[in-house]
Amino acid sequence: MDYVINPWMEGNIHKSSRDRSVEQWQKLHHILKDHAIVELVKPEKGWPDMVFTANAGLVLDKTVVLSRFFHKERQGEEPHFKAWFESQGFTVHELPKDLPFEGAGDALFDREGRYLWAGYGFRSELDSHPLIAEWLKIEVLSLRLMDERFYHLDTCFCPLNGGYLLYYPPAFDSYSNRLIEMRVPPEKRIAIEEPDAVNFACNAVNINETVVMNKVSDNLKARLAEAGFKVIETPLSEFLKAGGAAKCLTLRVTEPIIPDRHATVQIETRTVRMEGHLLDAGLINQALDLIVEGGGSFKVQQFNLGEERQSTSNALIKITAPSHQVMEDIISQLIDIGAVSLEEDIQDAKLEPVHQSGVSPDDFYVTTIYPTEIRVNGEWIRVQNQRMDGAIAVTETSEGIVAKCKLLRDLIVGEKVVVDVAGIRTIRKTESREQRNTPQEFGFMSAGVSSERRVELIVEQVAWELRQIRDRGGKVIVTAGPVVIHTGGAEHLSHLVREGYVQALLGGNAIAVHDIEQSMMGTSLGVDMKQGTAVKGGHRHHLKVINAIRRCGSIANAVEKGILTTGVMYECVKNHVPFSLAGSIRDDGPLPDTQMDLIKAQQHYTELLQGAEMILMLSTMLHSIGVGNMTAAGVKMVCVDINPAVVTKLSDRGSVESVGVVTDVGLFLSLLVKQLDKLTSRYHLEV
Ligand code: ARG
Repeated sequence: MDYVINPWMEGNIHKSSRDRSVEQWQKLHHILKDHAIVELVKPEKGWPDMVFTANAGLVLDKTVVLSRFFHKERQGEEPHFKAWFESQGFTVHELPKDLPFEGAGDALFDREGRYLWAGYGFRSELDSHPLIAEWLKIEVLSLRLMDERFYHLDTCFCPLNGGYLLYYPPAFDSYSNRLIEMRVPPEKRIAIEEPDAVNFACNAVNINETVVMNKVSDNLKARLAEAGFKVIETPLSEFLKAGGAAKCLTLRVTEPIIPDRHATVQIETRTVRMEGHLLDAGLINQALDLIVEGGGSFKVQQFNLGEERQSTSNALIKITAPSHQVMEDIISQLIDIGAVSLEEDIQDAKLEPVHQSGVSPDDFYVTTIYPTEIRVNGEWIRVQNQRMDGAIAVTETSEGIVAKCKLLRDLIVGEKVVVDVAGIRTIRKTESREQRNTPQEFGFMSAGVSSERRVELIVEQVAWELRQIRDRGGKVIVTAGPVVIHTGGAEHLSHLVREGYVQALLGGNAIAVHDIEQSMMGTSLGVDMKQGTAVKGGHRHHLKVINAIRRCGSIANAVEKGILTTGVMYECVKNHVPFSLAGSIRDDGPLPDTQMDLIKAQQHYTELLQGAEMILMLSTMLHSIGVGNMTAAGVKMVCVDINPAVVTKLSDRGSVESVGVVTDVGLFLSLLVKQLDKLTSRYHLEV
């Protein structure tokens, strides 16, 4: 062993004993000869893995699909195996170059003979499966391998006589497991556990009732006996070091055609086009990753690289998926990142009626924050009220067809909903290279999380934008959590409200309670805000405050009565800045203003968010995520939190307009106010 091409070989270079290998191989040969006629292929110098003849090709009757090895370490085996097959009178099919497929190591006939199980994910490419189906005229069921220790299908999957199946379920993704469960009845499935799996129990040679394998636990041996199989163990430890065992060392060359076999392929292919800064913005990687992660496979058919700094690239990507369902999942995600189907493949969106209000037909397309269009009667129409996690409802009105993003609960009978993924496209703005790469300039240029050094820079940008938006009568929304108060941010946020930089405040019960507590009692959750120490009995302060406001009937009444005279809530009332406080299960009180009907609270948030240009998200993951879901791409979001995980979660919307700042929110607000003051102060030349 001179190289490593699978995890078993790691650390084993030059570690296997030649004598022991020969002895183990001879033993296996001896056993097999008792049960079958064994032909030998002449070994070739320099190609040690030829010993694993399972990988020579896939044989059915007198036809063979020759392997195309994934690793160059094995590619030299191909001509030798080809010559052998030809000498034996086989018709040899060869796959196109660069389309790997590793023969019977990755493709196993059901022993009842109706279909072929074919693996992909490590050594064989999904795209090889349709060709195999065509050449061998057989139904192919594609199984995706997930665990690199089980890189070939025959390391974790072994169809046995009588329709039994010996296999290791965790080696496959859930779609593949479902497929297996659909085809093989429970009483025929022999699922094994890891200890047997790593001893290559699935890598067994099955001849009638005999199963030959490296090693097997008593438990598994008993289960196999129960199913009528006799296990012969023969040690193959030296071959395990190369990542193979009994089955890998053999290739069944007498695979009869069973008339019942028929060629129905489930595999689907589609082609999409992508355009934009595919490389710079990482879109192409994202697309290809999500195809593979989704269980599909791809071929980039065209890639035109934009050569100038500002020019965009475009690509044609052919996608293969093992079933329609998998294809749909992949395509819907590709749509989200701006891919469109090829012109000739474009169809109208598929619409299905709502039969029960508040419930969508199954399979509905889930919306994103990006501007979306759907095709109806050959024409693209823009979807209104864009938001995340909605369905697209289509109605016919006197002005024509109208499409709207709607929450499931708001769907009504008579509307139609877009299902499937046909006829949908999202529009991504292609921002320039500068916009993406130079956060030094004003504007919200990078969808990234700040390092501490960048905080000041971002404060400058935010102050600049706030000033501009205020001066043109625009709209800025603040979502704030109680941490704003605990960290001493109340006076600064009050200042922003008072000076007209905030057009609506969204939060929960807590921000208002703590703000009012501070304003009325000088403490925030019982901690003195001036001294920073706990006040005796202070833990009851917030309840007293709640009680006082409840007595007045509302925060506004408390302001009017002169009970509440400072603070964020006070400034909101005084300056007619609307606020919305959404309730939660842990709320004390609540304040009379807190909306405990969450559907109403969500609606109120949505109303206040209409027309927002910028959202400052201040230390509240809960309300910020809620707001993020309601907001279409294009609205600037600044998320400030001391916890980087929160910032990443919120600013990672894939849209350029969001920026994250990891810092103390009180500090952020004080810097922001200072910066705004600077912008407002008289201009004087530095001397
Ligand atoms: N060292 C060989 C490889 O990594 C082992 C092949 C095992 N064969 C098999 N059918 N699982 O390719």
